[in-house]
Parts: sequence; structure tokens; C-alpha cells
Amino acid sequence: MTAKAAAAPNTDALVARTLASLRDAAAKAMEAAYAPYSGFRVGAALLTTDGAIVAGCNVENAAYPAGVCAERVALGAAVAQGHREFLAIAIATEAEEPTPPCGICRQALVEFAPDLVVLSVTRGGREARWTLAELLPHAFTPHSLDHSRH
Ligand code: THU
Repeated sequence: MTAKAAAAPNTDALVARTLASLRDAAAKAMEAAYAPYSGFRVGAALLTTDGAIVAGCNVENAAYPAGVCAERVALGAAVAQGHREFLAIAIATEAEEPTPPCGICRQALVEFAPDLVVLSVTRGGREARWTLAELLPHAFTPHSLDHSRH
């Protein structure tokens, strides 16, 4: 008699579904973007290690440098909700090609998630994937402060 093999957990499907939810959350957040100056709307959604998804959009300002990127709005919202560990971020824009996060956002994200997976998606269904370590090699992290003389 042959034992029936236990069904393998379909983790690929689970990952695919989770990433689909993350992309959807980023695309939805993009609809709320306040970008009257650049016209470049961005949505971002962070996936926490406990499975929560927290989104943000870019919020511009008449005093241009006061504007904030979608990624940092999502990060601030997530931290304010008590989340500090993240697995992935999805970024949604209306650009033709997937756009990577700006340098300041890379730095903001590495503080919490050096191993973050970064997905960038377009409305047309294009997608790019990086790790944050690829996007920000040799990062300045909390450990960098250990070498301070103070
Ligand atoms: N922006 C983001 O929200 N995320 C990025 O990673 C790149 C740029 C925003 C900032 C500004 O509101 C607009 O896109 C154009 O730079």
C-alpha cells in the first residue's frame, strides 16, 4: 500500500497573492496622491513581518522641499501604528517604466529593513524588483553609530 503524500503547501500561491494585495494597496494609495506641482503621483505599500499592509502617497507642498515621498509617508504611518519590521514595499506610479525609490527613501527604509524587497509597478503592468541592499550598498545604518567616539 502506498502512503498518500501530504499535500505540499502552496507557498508560491501564497506569495503571489500577498504581492498582488501589496501592489493593489500601492495603486490605491496612488489615487490619493497630492501632487499638483509635479503631476507625478506615487503610491507605496509596506508589508510588515506580521502580514499587515500600510500604505502612503506623496504629499507635495507649495514650498516644494516640504513635500514628502510616498515611501516615507507609508513608513511613518506604519511606525506610528507600531510596525517596525518589514518584508517588502510596493511602489506604484503612472510612469512608463517602473521607478526605484529616491535616495532619501532608501536611507529611511534601510533603518528598519535592510533586507527589504522593493517592487515597483506601472499601470501598464510592468514590474521591477530589487533588494534594498542592491539599491543602497554600503548603507549608513544604526550600527554605523557604534563606531562613534562618544
Ligand atoms: N516621489 C515619491 O513619492 N517617491 C519616490 O521614490 C520618488 C519621487 C515623489 C516626490 C514628488 O512628489 C514627485 O514624486 C516627483 O518627484
